Amino acid sequence: MAFGAFGEECPHLFEGTHAGALVRLGVAEVVGRIGDLREADKLCARSARFVECPEDVLEVRLGVFYVVSADLAKGDAERLHAGNSTGEPLGSKDANVDENENAKFYEANRARWDESVGIHVVSKGYDMPGFLRGEKSLYPVEIEEMGDVSGKTLLHLQCHFGMDTLSWARLGAKVTGLDFSGRAVEEARRLADHIGVSNATFVQSDLYAAREALAGQQFDIVYTGIGALCWLHDIREWARIVAGFLKPGGVFYIYEGHPALWALDAERKDQQLVITEPYFELGRPSEYPGEYTYVDGPKLKNTGNYEWNHGIGEIVTALIAAGLRLEFLHEHREVAWQALPWMISDDAVASGDESRHQRRATWRLPDEQTDLCPLMYSLRALRPTSTKRATRAGIGQNEHPPS
Ligand SMILES: C[S@@+](CC[C@H](N)C(=O)[O-])C[C@H]1O[C@@H](n2cnc3c(N)ncnc32)[C@H](O)[C@@H]1O
Repeated sequence: MAFGAFGEECPHLFEGTHAGALVRLGVAEVVGRIGDLREADKLCARSARFVECPEDVLEVRLGVFYVVSADLAKGDAERLHAGNSTGEPLGSKDANVDENENAKFYEANRARWDESVGIHVVSKGYDMPGFLRGEKSLYPVEIEEMGDVSGKTLLHLQCHFGMDTLSWARLGAKVTGLDFSGRAVEEARRLADHIGVSNATFVQSDLYAAREALAGQQFDIVYTGIGALCWLHDIREWARIVAGFLKPGGVFYIYEGHPALWALDAERKDQQLVITEPYFELGRPSEYPGEYTYVDGPKLKNTGNYEWNHGIGEIVTALIAAGLRLEFLHEHREVAWQALPWMISDDAVASGDESRHQRRATWRLPDEQTDLCPLMYSLRALRPTSTKRATRAGIGQNEHPPS
């Protein structure tokens, strides 16, 4: 059995009995004998997920794995938990933000989303009449890059009031949507009834409670659409949740605002692209209070708005560490809403405030800026089909996402 030195990244899976201490730093799931696990549990990460295994086999099921000596001091374990073997942070620089504090931010966001639903369903931006006539709200790039969904089970995380989810249903998928807004879920169910999609399921749950809300279910496809990740504080846990919902061979697809775009100053009058906002994931959110949502409509009462950015490397690495195999990451020069006031649209039909976001319309930077900054990205990743046990496996070769 191969053990690395204290804090060293172990590049391969291994098997055998062992009574040493293990530490799992955010990405690996450990299966082992219960005695070992208790020992490991004492020493290691708050978020570790240990699974009892009846055999004398210790197996790292996923991702980066760190080994520590049995006489690891607790202080060392805590220090190690804060960083990887090179001493760099594994993710959030400010990981010590109190979960209760986050609850406050999530509650404010949820109130805002609840209130937004009623505005969105009647907005020009979401174009309900068009949807009721049979149009799909998805962007052509999503439909093309996702590929054929007919007959597949599809989970849409953060589905809002279900327009995109039900567009996938119109393309033949058997859909489940999940959102933490009760108003959004009610509206999604109503919309499904209204258009006669009888086999759609909509579930109210926070993203981080999704495993419990959809206990044991796995899907052919997990999909996430525009404007979803900025509401989540921990991208690594998000990636583990995504991976856990995929059947072996299943596909994850996301079409999202680029973190480089989120980092730009959106208030400038001089039309310069200037970074003033965090690009990397921080434990603490940025506060962007606002009286309006991103589509046309009246003022909101719930103006609180808390967002987290996640660097593209953080997102991709989190998915790989969760056991997915990346197929592509495309960075786009178009964006689905008027993210900066001087952006131009070639296909939006309204102007001014009413044009900020319209289904399937895109905006871009003026010609002289168009090659300077990516505005959106799309990413497709697979959950590999085979499980390799006790073989050499580095990041990206581990083939057993958590469930
Ligand atoms: C911009 S919408 C994304 C859906 C889709 N792109 C659309 O425009 O209709 C973002 C959704 O994320 C949901 N959301 C935000 N934070 C969440 C959380 N922690 N758990 C689950 N859903 C969340 C909101 O309720 C909202 O419906």
